Amino acid sequence: MTVNGRLQSFLLGHDFAATQTLADVLRERLGLTGLKIACDEGACGACTVIMDGRAVLSCMILAVEAAGHEVLTIEGLAGDDPVVKAFACQCEPGHGTALQCGFCTPGAVMTAKAFLDENPDPTLDEVKEALAGNLCRCGCYQGIAQAVLAAARGRAGT
Ligand code: FES
Ligand code: FES
Repeated sequence: MTVNGRLQSFLLGHDFAATQTLADVLRERLGLTGLKIACDEGACGACTVIMDGRAVLSCMILAVEAAGHEVLTIEGLAGDDPVVKAFACQCEPGHGTALQCGFCTPGAVMTAKAFLDENPDPTLDEVKEALAGNLCRCGCYQGIAQAVLAAARGRAGT
């Protein structure tokens, strides 16, 4: 599989077992610990990465299923990626910040990036629907939604 632009070769049964998830392999074999494993059952979005352009829950995909595919993790984004910047800078009065503890943030950023690639000029309702699967125990939902809208403006250069 290609991970963040680099080809990674594994030997099934040696490097990882057929039952291991993509989340496990990305974290434990490649040290890409940005994605988090929280629920480990597809219910929280913390493990979201982008595979072939689509946001996917890496805890719900077997690593072997990623063979031949392109995977992008939060580590593969540039530091000045508009989505990363928007999450970091969000402090709109009345909406709060887009993150507190930061545990959910990599997953939310990756969901937002894949969403904005498909829908570069979303409405607030569309943002809320797109991010509905990313749970934030700190309750930063309003700030996250504002950050995604700001990221859309940043990407458009407006
Ligand atoms: S850890 Fe994958 S969805 Fe929660
Ligand atoms: S910022 Fe803490 S869980 Fe979202």
